Amino acid sequence: MKKVEVSPSILSANFLNLEKDILDVYKGGAKYLHFDVMDGHFVPNISFGSVILKQISKEHLLINDVHLMITDPDKYLLDFINSGADIITFHYEALNSDEEIFALINRIKSYKVKAGISIKPNTNVDAIVKFLPFVDLVLVMSVEPGFGGQKFMFNSVEKIKNLFKIREESNCNFLIEVDGGINNETSKLCIEAGVDILVAGSYIYNKEDKKAAIESLIG
Ligand code: DX5
Ligand code: ZN
Repeated sequence: MKKVEVSPSILSANFLNLEKDILDVYKGGAKYLHFDVMDGHFVPNISFGSVILKQISKEHLLINDVHLMITDPDKYLLDFINSGADIITFHYEALNSDEEIFALINRIKSYKVKAGISIKPNTNVDAIVKFLPFVDLVLVMSVEPGFGGQKFMFNSVEKIKNLFKIREESNCNFLIEVDGGINNETSKLCIEAGVDILVAGSYIYNKEDKKAAIESLIG
């Protein structure tokens, strides 16, 4: 039985005590740390840039899972790569052509960084099938990107099942990640559907006991 991993989103962390909030999720069993980068243009909210990543990426043992909810991800790619990103996930909807998407995937991978592609709730899996043999990760958004603490959108479960089936029937080996409204109930639906990584922000960071919160997502 494959192990499902957790990627706590620091969007909901306490930035006054970020070091402790990162250590607590590491001790709680998380394997990834999710950086929700928002530019106030692709999504109607502004979060943080590569300066935060640069300060902390080498200070912990988690995999730096960077989620770029930004227009023109190519323009900022090197900033995040040079700041320690291990995975860089961009949005399918942020680019204007297949050529641009293929070029960005190749550029990310040319720096030995893992390339992820993300789809918003209204984008179907069909839109990204041609890219699946080339990406390391697919991020299914289970909320409209831009804010933590939103309600899970149940159409995401079908997308995870679809991606799982495509991977089983092909020689693709991308990881399936889901992000938004993940709690101890919605996580189980995603796990049953075949997800590999659960992103959770408010569910984990609104709780005192991060270990129990992380374990409740999987167990
Ligand atoms: C986009 C962000 C959020 C965040 C998770 O809005 O990507 O989905 O990671 O937030 P929660 O877990 O609080 O829904
Ligand atoms: Zn995210």
